[in-house]
Amino acid sequence: MTTYKKEFQRSIQQPESFWAEQAKRIPWFKPANTILEYDEQGHARWFIDGEMNICHAALDHHVEHGRGDQPAIYWDSPVTASKRTITYRELLDQVARFAGALKTLGVEKGDRVVLYMPMVPEALVAMYACARLGAVHSVVFGGFAPNELAVRIEDAQPKVVVAASCGVEVDRVIPYKPNIDAAVELSSHKPDACVIFQREQLLGEMGPRDHDWAELISQSAPAECVAVKGGDPLYVLYTSGTTGKPKGVVRDTAGYAVALHYSMEVIYQMEPGEVFFSASDVGWVVGHSYIVYAPLLRGCTTVVYEGKPVRTPDAGAFWRLVSEYRVKSFFTAPTAFRAIKKEDPDGSLLRQYDISCMKALYLAGERLDPPTYHWLDDLLDVPVIDHWWQTETGWPIAANLAGLELLPTKAGSASVPVPGFNVQLLDHEGKQAKAMEQGSVVIKQPLPPGCLIGVWQDPQRFQSAYMAAYPGYYLTGDGGYFDQDGYLFIMGRTDDVINIAGHRLSTGEMEEVVGSHKAVAECAVIGIHDSLRGQVPVGLVIPKDGFDGDELTLENELIALVREKIGAIACFKEVLVVDRLPKTRSGKILRKLLRSIADGKEYGVPSTIDDPASLQEVHEAMLKREIGSAHNARQL
Ligand code: COA
Ligand code: AMP
Repeated sequence: MTTYKKEFQRSIQQPESFWAEQAKRIPWFKPANTILEYDEQGHARWFIDGEMNICHAALDHHVEHGRGDQPAIYWDSPVTASKRTITYRELLDQVARFAGALKTLGVEKGDRVVLYMPMVPEALVAMYACARLGAVHSVVFGGFAPNELAVRIEDAQPKVVVAASCGVEVDRVIPYKPNIDAAVELSSHKPDACVIFQREQLLGEMGPRDHDWAELISQSAPAECVAVKGGDPLYVLYTSGTTGKPKGVVRDTAGYAVALHYSMEVIYQMEPGEVFFSASDVGWVVGHSYIVYAPLLRGCTTVVYEGKPVRTPDAGAFWRLVSEYRVKSFFTAPTAFRAIKKEDPDGSLLRQYDISCMKALYLAGERLDPPTYHWLDDLLDVPVIDHWWQTETGWPIAANLAGLELLPTKAGSASVPVPGFNVQLLDHEGKQAKAMEQGSVVIKQPLPPGCLIGVWQDPQRFQSAYMAAYPGYYLTGDGGYFDQDGYLFIMGRTDDVINIAGHRLSTGEMEEVVGSHKAVAECAVIGIHDSLRGQVPVGLVIPKDGFDGDELTLENELIALVREKIGAIACFKEVLVVDRLPKTRSGKILRKLLRSIADGKEYGVPSTIDDPASLQEVHEAMLKREIGSAHNARQL
């Protein structure tokens, strides 16, 4: 039996002893006696009675064990023409002082702190400072509009909000402070205080609730680590679901630390002292796990990059970073490479850099499409590893475990289930799908350490969204199949979640925004294929009876509304005004069918359709607007 297979089987057959062994590899104040327990709803909880602090495990522990002078962070920000190296000792000092500052504002164990920060080291300082106090952070991606921030403030009920005065994009400075003010205004919950990290590119105007980061930190005494229980929450991270209200994914402390530490070794092949680069954003799960926590838990250096894959200054940006910081393992989203490929198709920028330090390239966040995989595989001398996971799991569910045993890669597949994840494929009746048969991808309980322990303030939603469809299994929301060799192919979501440039968004949420416009009677938002971003949303809108306005004006208003309410990252730029939408006789819009038309896929007219002519009308409207392919024309 191969090393991978042995390890995987042991993790499934003896989960407690498997994870108890892994737990010994991270520092505890008091190791857990209870390794695995099930809560009253039957969900796995790991290491609940142990005591630790993830900030201690990632910072204090390493400083105490000789890593004080090792760089913890390489910050590289071409958009502000700045670079900084921060050692473990310096980072610990900043974190302890900022934790002290939060303490003076009344933040205690269990309190929530909402963060709205760009890719600056202070984002990591603030996250670790919360962890140090046992407070629960909730980071909101800077590309979200005030309304989205307000929804999260309303739900998380933070005592304090920590934000930067602005973010910096390639061609413009994005003011953050007005967004925070607007969000606090919109939310019925008001935080006691806002701490503003003033950036010289744009200072925020301070109000009565606001405190200046630098001033506050200069007056605070460093705070010590607070011991928390292994099962205590470390953070809440909101992610898009099928409805307008995002789900607050709750992560525990110890299970997460154990899982991340394990993954750094067996998936990412990282040894202490080496450099890891994950080109994502602290606002997403990839940022939480593989920019902030995992690299430092493992004693590595993390690269914090404030820039784009292209235009900062060119499509060689990533290769420059890999070469300059001697990165061993590099992780980003496929969309970034589609952008790079467009600008540097033959890899001539790559050849300007010595990237011999890089041992593997990891891609996730969306499906790694075979053309991008082949382009990278031809270009690089190292394995190109697609791996699949989601905000809920916190770390990879399927991967090629190069740190254990590198298996042959297959284009389009995220390889094999990671130890701990008993991945199964079920059909709509709940029967196991055979090899090559598509089904719903589920994970048999118990979920391994590191996965979500609940939905913030909403146990019912945890149950209904993830656990109800197939009792005993966690529903991932993805569809796919296993091939004969046990390789997993993830083919896409089975719900209303779409993936735009590696960013997870909900078409249901966009529909709520579009539907709130006074002239809209009905609408459907669908995700259609896009060669750069993977998917982009398209809105199909039926105006209210008596609407006699200009269609183009309505379209532009709807585009502006989604940008205002959700944010620019929704990339909502296409609206089609139609008279009718294809529906079933019971009135359900045939969204899947609409997606097939737009993606140029073969489709049939379902027997359940109420009005077949509506299908033809929408199809023609799409073709006129060049949504869809020539193939569609033949179907008409
Ligand atoms: N704050 C404010 N606005 C932001 C933002 C932020 N943090 N991030 C993006 N935006 C804005 C952009 O400025 C853009 O606005 P525009 O419509 O006015 O131009 C819009 O949101 C869309 O952003 P994006 O999709 O990033 O478009 P882009 O053209 O700037 O870049 C890619 C395209 C593919 C290069 C980029 O999306 C990318 O690097 N994607 C990888 C994502 C990733 O790492 N995901 C993490 C999962 S692993
Ligand atoms: P997020 O929660 O933002 O990380 O998004 C998770 C979703 O992105 C998954 O449910 C998948 O639909 C998709 N996804 C992430 N990684 C992959 C991958 N390697 N292959 C296919 N889909 C992926």
